[in-house]
Amino acid sequence: MKRITYIFIMFAMLMLLTLLHACKKETVFNPPNAPVEFPDDPLPNGATPIDASPQRPGDATAGWEYLIYGDYVSSGIPRAIFTTFYGTDNSNRLGRTGDNSNIGHEFTSIVHENGAKIVAPNCLQCHSSQIDGQFVVGLGNPNLDFTTDQSALIPGLDQLITLTYGSNSDEWRAYEQFRRGLLASGPHLLTETIGANTADMIGAVLASHRHPEDLTWSDVPLIPLPPPNTTAQTDVPPWWHLKKKNAMFYAGVGQGDFSKFLMASSLLTMEDTTEAREIDTKFPDILAYINTIEAPVYTGTVNSSLLERGKSIFETTCKKCHGTYGDTETYPNLLIDLSEIQTDPLLVTSNFSSNGFINWYNSSWFSTTDNPGTLVVNNGYVAPPLDGVWATPPYLHNGSVPTLMDLLDSSRRPTYFKRSFSPADYDHTNVGWNYTVETSKTSKEVYDTTTPGYTNGGHYYGDALSQSDREALIEYLKTI
Ligand code: HEC
Ligand code: HEC
Repeated sequence: MKRITYIFIMFAMLMLLTLLHACKKETVFNPPNAPVEFPDDPLPNGATPIDASPQRPGDATAGWEYLIYGDYVSSGIPRAIFTTFYGTDNSNRLGRTGDNSNIGHEFTSIVHENGAKIVAPNCLQCHSSQIDGQFVVGLGNPNLDFTTDQSALIPGLDQLITLTYGSNSDEWRAYEQFRRGLLASGPHLLTETIGANTADMIGAVLASHRHPEDLTWSDVPLIPLPPPNTTAQTDVPPWWHLKKKNAMFYAGVGQGDFSKFLMASSLLTMEDTTEAREIDTKFPDILAYINTIEAPVYTGTVNSSLLERGKSIFETTCKKCHGTYGDTETYPNLLIDLSEIQTDPLLVTSNFSSNGFINWYNSSWFSTTDNPGTLVVNNGYVAPPLDGVWATPPYLHNGSVPTLMDLLDSSRRPTYFKRSFSPADYDHTNVGWNYTVETSKTSKEVYDTTTPGYTNGGHYYGDALSQSDREALIEYLKTI
């Protein structure tokens, strides 16, 4: 009986981990050295340039330390319980010291202000991953599993913490905020498919439980929550793009001070604006760190005889939206209207339909104090930078296209596809994930592009190219 409880708890914790990612929209941006020039060419159809906003300067070294040791998620699971059930992890990918040297990179061991040792999730749950077997900080994690309700773990955790420490202990108090955040958000985050990430929804749910001016918690939601299945799932963008971008997030909704969005993960556990103000002083450092990250270099071989042709095709067909790479870097920061790009609309339309959250944000502490962040509702998607595009499958904002070849030839895009979710299962020919084509959705590993929010149409800019042009273009894309 006891054993069963323990197994249940371990399972619950696992789910928690995933849950904890409970991040929201965060992004930083402060391009001290950003290569942003605007081409003189006429704007492409449906394109609107996005202007830059001033960003606070920060210290990248301090930002790295805070990212991997900091208590921006300030409540969590008692460390002894965490290590008993998760075991320890000695891979120490981040080269951390002390209590952090033997837990996974996606968690941080911290000392709660009441002295209890706890483990909390960190940004790297969603923002680090492996590609072609190589671990990369800042690469979006395309393998997280949001298909189960992680708040189901809470009863088991409650029992374990009460049995071990009592319900009037520092450990319980250091767990409480985490607990309530998970209970509130868990049921709203469910996806159909492993890899689909509902971080945007986490933000909206946690905001609904907070008073906008002082950010204190309300057990009752204060704004209506979007109905189930109306919030889009997304892929996770890589951090090395941010230094070029004038707006955060796929739909360009995050404008103004990026650090205000970056700190949104703290909505999971923070007490109030006193804690928020303290965290806010440190996020410009995380932004500065993010702005130092470069895209990883392609791990396979490149057919250099095709490069010049590939580059010239890119400059004729793609540059006007995605900019230029190599010696002269330019990036036009364009928002492309939905009617032109024609990719899945749900992320954009859900921003319009969940006005409650937009209004909450824009009237909240985040938007009405010094260095405000502002949510701007747009009717399209940002044409992203393509640095390191070989490393960022699956493609499009909703991760509906598994390889670059499929992106450039829409007739090849699979309606149902299944990945192995193994980090080494990379396809160097078509550039992206290996997959098998399925005929229906038979499991949570199968991505079903017939589901709203998961559709794979749009972005038809490679269709008119010949197959040999696409091959040359892909060789070039490996190098940028
Ligand atoms: C639960 C997963 C998750 C966690 C945890 C998380 N993020 Fe994110 N993050 C996302 C997703 C998904 C997006 C894309 C959302 C969108 O664009 O609509 C995103 C977007 C971003 C962006 C914007 C990138 C761009 O190009 O526009 C930045 C920067 C960022 N996150 C930083 C952070 C930081 C810093 C933390 C920790 C404090 C963090 N994130 C925690 C999932 C997560
Ligand atoms: C009219 C503007 C426009 C043109 C032209 C264009 N793109 Fe895009 N591209 C976009 C937009 C907007 C997105 C984001 C769409 C989305 O995520 O729904 C995008 C997304 C992408 C992505 C996915 C990035 C990722 O990591 O998910 C790749 C790769 C890409 N484009 C490559 C190209 C190539 C190669 C060409 C030339 C053949 C090209 N694009 C032409 C606007 C454009």
